[in-house]
Amino acid sequence: MENKITIGLFGFGTVGQGLAGVLQRVENNKAEIKRICVKNADKPRTLPQEFFTVNPDDIFNDSKINLIVEVIDDDKAAYGIVTKALNKGLSVVSGNKKMLAYHLPELIELQQKTGAALLYDASACGSIPVIRNLEEYYDNDLLISVKGILNGSSNFILSKIFNENMRYDTALKMAQDLGFAESNPSFDVDGFDSLFKLVIITVHAFGEYVNPDKLLNFGISNMSENDIRFAIEKSRRIKLVGQVEKLSNDQITLFVLPQLISKDKYIYSVEDEFNGVVIKGEFYYKQFMFGQGAGSKPTGSAVLSDITARYHNYRYEYKKRNRIRKFHYTEDHIIRIYLRYENEDDLSLFNFQQITERYASDSYKYVVGNINLKDIIKIKDELHKRNLFLAAYPHN
Ligand SMILES: NC(=O)c1ccc[n+]([C@@H]2O[C@H](COP(=O)([O-])OP(=O)(O)OC[C@H]3O[C@@H](n4cnc5c(N)ncnc54)[C@H](OP(=O)(O)O)[C@@H]3O)[C@@H](O)[C@H]2O)c1
Repeated sequence: MENKITIGLFGFGTVGQGLAGVLQRVENNKAEIKRICVKNADKPRTLPQEFFTVNPDDIFNDSKINLIVEVIDDDKAAYGIVTKALNKGLSVVSGNKKMLAYHLPELIELQQKTGAALLYDASACGSIPVIRNLEEYYDNDLLISVKGILNGSSNFILSKIFNENMRYDTALKMAQDLGFAESNPSFDVDGFDSLFKLVIITVHAFGEYVNPDKLLNFGISNMSENDIRFAIEKSRRIKLVGQVEKLSNDQITLFVLPQLISKDKYIYSVEDEFNGVVIKGEFYYKQFMFGQGAGSKPTGSAVLSDITARYHNYRYEYKKRNRIRKFHYTEDHIIRIYLRYENEDDLSLFNFQQITERYASDSYKYVVGNINLKDIIKIKDELHKRNLFLAAYPHN
């Protein structure tokens, strides 16, 4: 890259302001923000007004700008900005997990075609450098699984419930008041945010891209007092977990589900708004990465790390996608689940292969059993319409 990085920034919300603050703090003379494009011209800003514009062309037509940083909250507009920049040969740093999760294959192709680079470590797990590590360090066939708490808001809620006996609604309100959860919390608590991150992580872990719509994600919004009591009686905690796992030399599977996690697991102790990712491999057993997965400065510092990486001409090479024997996603995989249901009609939806534990009273009914992931995916849309809760219940 040139001697200095001159940034055209899109978005000046939580992450954009975090980046500006981090840049001031590190007195980084390799990178500076030249212009900032936002949506509303009239909002008061913390930087002088001459930085701001609402016209994207003020950035795209500025020949001094040599890097686009896109941290806006609109995935469709973000897609337009990122593709326009790459087509102009301008490299981009982005934090938009939803946009990336839906468009990665074409964005990879576009990078190859134009020679411009797209970096997005901030999009998955904020300040934890998961993507670059998977891309660079785990560049071999020894990887077995990547499993983690990828969403800080839902983890904050679960921590309050399991450590402080707080009710779900109170914990959710607290997460919103503290700015951890969105005003429409479904993105976080129903596992969509974790799902988008998992799709991105999987591309860098195993080279396989799977469209998010094909995958199973179920969250914690239906969790009840009975489900919490069940977990405590079994000496476990409920955590919202995204995981991708190698099943054979050419098959992987991935999903986002609440999981009943036992005390001996690293992620059992990941509390509050923190994220934790466990990387398992054949000869090194397990490695654990822990840190702040969201927030203004943590995410701003992850964006700065990508900017600095561009200063050194770093780009993702997508090495795993070029592997001779490719991994393919399969939904044909048996998992053990805990299912709390309301009536026999709910239960009959589930094609259990084996039920190993069962309880039924007027107010609480559950089963524990083995079921094929593909049979849950078939009824995915039905799950959210009914008063039921399911969680993966892995054997120790
Ligand atoms: N917050 C986090 O901790 C975090 C962590 C990792 C990744 N991310 C990702 O980073 C991105 C930004 O998140 P955020 O929390 O910073 O969002 P935010 O606080 O809601 O800020 C969004 C910003 O985008 C601007 N904007 C929206 N549409 C625009 C458009 N079409 N053109 C130009 N600017 C536009 C808004 O302008 P106005 O100021 O005029 O409204 C605002 O400045 C999202 O993709 C998010 O998923 C966030």
